[in-house]
Amino acid sequence: MSFPENFLWGGATAANQCEGAYREGGRGLANVDVCPAGKDRFPVCLGKLKMLEPDSEHYYPAMESIDMYHHFREDIAMFGEMGFKTYRLSIAWTRIFPNGDEEEPNEEGLKFYEDLFKECHKYGIEPLVTITHFDCPIYLIKKYGGWKNRKMIDFYKKLVTVLFTRYKGLVKYWLTFNEINMILHLPFMGAGLVFEEGENETLSKYLAAHHELIASAEATRIAHEIDPENKIGCMLAAGMTYPYTCSPEDVWKSMQKDRENYFFIDVQARGEYPAYAKKFFEREKIELDITEKDRNVLRENTVDFISFSYYSSRCTSADNTIEKTDGNVFATVKNPYLKASEWGWQIDPLGLRCTLNALYDRYQKPLFIVENGLGSSDEPDENGYVEDDYRIEYLREHIKAMKAAVEEDGVELLGYTSWGCIDLVSASTGEMKKRYGFIYVDKDDEGNGTLKRTPKKSFYWYKKVIASNGEIL
Ligand code: BG6
Repeated sequence: MSFPENFLWGGATAANQCEGAYREGGRGLANVDVCPAGKDRFPVCLGKLKMLEPDSEHYYPAMESIDMYHHFREDIAMFGEMGFKTYRLSIAWTRIFPNGDEEEPNEEGLKFYEDLFKECHKYGIEPLVTITHFDCPIYLIKKYGGWKNRKMIDFYKKLVTVLFTRYKGLVKYWLTFNEINMILHLPFMGAGLVFEEGENETLSKYLAAHHELIASAEATRIAHEIDPENKIGCMLAAGMTYPYTCSPEDVWKSMQKDRENYFFIDVQARGEYPAYAKKFFEREKIELDITEKDRNVLRENTVDFISFSYYSSRCTSADNTIEKTDGNVFATVKNPYLKASEWGWQIDPLGLRCTLNALYDRYQKPLFIVENGLGSSDEPDENGYVEDDYRIEYLREHIKAMKAAVEEDGVELLGYTSWGCIDLVSASTGEMKKRYGFIYVDKDDEGNGTLKRTPKKSFYWYKKVIASNGEIL
C-alpha cells in the first residue's frame, strides 16, 4: 500500500476566485476585486498600473466569480460525493476585517466560514485553510502601502488570532500565505504593492517579503499557543528549474533561479535567512532592518510542513536568446522534451517527482501538494457534461509520479489537493474559459451563465481514485 490510510485527498480553491458576493455580509473591498479581466489585468497584478477602485470600463471577474458564497452547501455536497478527505479554501480577509485595521471583527464574515467548516465536517472533510491567497484589504493598501509597511504584521496577527480562536476544533491545517514567492512576480496580488515612478522595486518586494515572513512566523507561534493541535504550513509556487544544457553556465543559472524561490521557504522552514540571500542583499544594497526580535521569531517558529503548487517544471539557459514560454506566470525557456497546455504551460509529471524529492531532501519536513491540475477550455454537451479525458490523463500521470516519490523514494506526503476542483476564475488571466474543475460551472468570460454545476467525466474518475486510496488510476 503506497499511501497512508489517512492520506488527505481533495481539491483546492481560493476565496477571490470562487466566492463572489464581494459586497455582501459586510465585506470590504480587496485588491483581488479590482484586478480586471483583459489586457489591463497583468499590469495591475504587477503593481505597474494603479487601480484601487473599480471603474465602469472594466469587467472584474472576482466580484461574482462562481458565487460560491451562495452555493457552498451544494458545492461541498459534491466534494463529499467525490469522497474528499480535505478541502483547501482561503479566507477573504475583508470578510473578517473589512478595512483590515478595525478593532472588532465582522461577525457575519466569521459566521460564514464557521458554517462552511461545519458543512465540510458533515461529510468528513477536513478543511485546509489558506489565510491569505493573493488577498489584501484595499484600505490597507491605500493607507499603508501594503506589505512594504511593517504595520501590516500587526493587522495580520490580529486576523490570525481571531481565526485560530474562533475556529479552534474546526480547523487544524493552516497555510499562512499562498505562493509566497509570487511577491516577486505578481507584487500587487502577493503583497498589495503598487509602485511609484522611480521606486526601488526590488527593495520594496524584499521588504514586503520580510514582513510576510515575520507575519508567517508570528502566525505559527500564535497558532501553536492557541491550540497545540494546529499544523501550520508555508506554501511555495514550486517546480524545479532544469538547466537547458549540461553546460556549467546553464547549471549555475538553474541553481540561482531555484534559489529565488527557495529563499522564502528556507526562512520559513529553517528559521533564518540563507547565506546566499544575505550576500544578495549586500550586493543590491537592500536594507531590511532585521531586528533581534525578528531573528528570534523566525528561529523559534518554523513551519510544521511544506506545501506547494506544481503545474510544471521550469527550464533556464545562460543564453538569453532561447525561446521562452509561459508557466504559472514565470516565463521559462521552452523545454523541447515536453508538451504544453493550451496556455503554454509545459506538462511534466516526472518533474513533480523531482520537485518532491528536491524539497524533501532540502527541508526534511512533511510535504503537501496543495495545487496541481490542467487549465483547459472544456466543451460541454447540451447538458453541461464534459468528457475531459485530457484532464484525467494529466492528473493520472502526476498522481503516478507522486506515488513513486512516496513509495520508492520515501518522501513523507500528507496529501494532495488538485487545483480548482470546481471551475473558477483564473488567477493569471481572469478567464473562466481556463477551467481546472471536476465540476463544470456554466459561466463565461463576459459574466453570462446560469452558474449551474455539472460533474465532468473526471469527477467520477477522481471518486474512484480516492475510494481506492490511489490504487485505481
Ligand atoms: C496558482 C495560484 O498560481 O495557480 C492559483 O495559487 C491559480 O490561485 C493557479 O489559480 C492556476 O493559475 P491560473 O492562472 O491558471 O488560474
